Amino acid sequence: MIYFDNSATTEPSEEVLTSFVEVNKRFFANPASLHLAGRQVDALLEKSREQILNIVKAPEGIVTYTSGGTEANNLAILGFARKFKHRGKHIITTKIEHPSIIEAAKQLELEGFEVDYLPVNREGVIAIEALAEKLRDDTILVSVMHVNNEIGSIQPIEACSQLIRERTRAIFHVDAVQSFGKLPITLTGDGPDAMTISAHKIHGLKGSGALITRAQITPEAINYGGGQEEGVRSGTVSTSHAATLARAMRMVAERTNVAAYERWRKQLIAHVEQVPEVKIVAKETSAPHILSIAFKGIKGEVAVNFFQKNNITISTSSACSSKSNDVSHVIEAIQLEEQFKDGVIRISFGEFNTDEQMTQFKKVFMDFIHLLKRGKSNDFK
Ligand SMILES: Cc1ncc(COP(=O)(O)O)c(C=O)c1O
Repeated sequence: MIYFDNSATTEPSEEVLTSFVEVNKRFFANPASLHLAGRQVDALLEKSREQILNIVKAPEGIVTYTSGGTEANNLAILGFARKFKHRGKHIITTKIEHPSIIEAAKQLELEGFEVDYLPVNREGVIAIEALAEKLRDDTILVSVMHVNNEIGSIQPIEACSQLIRERTRAIFHVDAVQSFGKLPITLTGDGPDAMTISAHKIHGLKGSGALITRAQITPEAINYGGGQEEGVRSGTVSTSHAATLARAMRMVAERTNVAAYERWRKQLIAHVEQVPEVKIVAKETSAPHILSIAFKGIKGEVAVNFFQKNNITISTSSACSSKSNDVSHVIEAIQLEEQFKDGVIRISFGEFNTDEQMTQFKKVFMDFIHLLKRGKSNDFK
């Protein structure tokens, strides 16, 4: 199988799988236990934490291990808003966030918070002026994703960060699930105050992620129990998930071949653009590993099935919305032309892709177009 759905999830690397087994065999004790085995496990947990903080250049910060990006985003939105509500009840995010941000923000609206959802342009990018207009004295939290998971658009994180720091005391949180390892993002200088990471998007394991803050700030807990993770996230921490998260972050930071992703994206764009009925979505602003294209008058599923028959795995816009028939909120937000709305597919690269696979993709793509032109669709005649 040629796997081009790395934004949905990636294949775990051999190193991560080996570490997972080893840590489970040798370090299975409860890190909260006082005995020697427990202290050894705790030491490994802390070592992983330190490594993660070094990678994101926040040695003074805090890593809260979570079950993945969804939980870390919920913790950031619900936890920071509730913790700082004495300062104000205004929050800003965008219209194209992952559902784990948008649904958490909607929950806060039910609790009496006021949320502004910034619009994006046709490239899927917010205007910094729009953020400036919405910032208020009572804004306590701003959350902006770095790279959109459906179309790959990149937000101006540094500019947002500078503006928020100049104008307010609000916490600036970034969902870096899709960008970490592909675009520079750290919690230093003009970086944000907090960010979300998910291991399974970077050749780590599902069920593993973190909310990382640059300073000693923590959100209010959103679950209750034994008070692990400084009381922020109760539950026995999985040391193997923590250690493999650190390992995946280290490996992806060291060896992701971003130049190859950029080259592949350019090659595929040049190839696909030969067909006038196909449109590149977020062409100018997208991250190197995501290519979103839209077919005129064709359903994305039709393309996905054709590629599948030819042993190539791609997806419609996102894994979360790919099973529902509704047009995704991201595609609505960028105001994609009506004839293209149903025809969006996403090709996303990872470490195990090769030049030969791009050649194969190009061939199958043209086979698909020829099939359509032979009479399946009026637009393609
Ligand atoms: C941008 C973004 N944020 C958050 C998530 C959720 O991460 P997880 O699958 O680890 O819960 C995803 C997963 O698709 C994502 O793409």
